[in-house]
Amino acid sequence: MAEFVAGAKPARFVTVARVDDLAPGELLGARLTGHAICLANVDGRFYAVAATCPHLGGPLAQGELEGSVLTCPWHMAQFNVRTGCVLRGPARTDLATYEVRVVGDEIRVAVPE
Ligand code: FES
Repeated sequence: MAEFVAGAKPARFVTVARVDDLAPGELLGARLTGHAICLANVDGRFYAVAATCPHLGGPLAQGELEGSVLTCPWHMAQFNVRTGCVLRGPARTDLATYEVRVVGDEIRVAVPE
């Protein structure tokens, strides 16, 4: 039975990549209705965060992923891709995160409101 919450609007999900596009431990840049996002495959689970480093705009999809820790390629700030939280400066602002669903072989990400 469906559950309805007053005022809640169901999220719209868009296919941004296929499961085979990024192996465990890999990152992939993608577009989500005008937003640049960075997909991360952490041991077969997929996460999506903003693709631009909040420090000086480094391209996070070109960084390194070790476990759930994403390292910016420019000045080595680190973020947790599960939560978006800054783990190490010089960045001071957390990354936006996006809800991810896998449907068949499609990676779908929730469009921000
Ligand atoms: S641009 Fe990412 S740490 Fe500086």
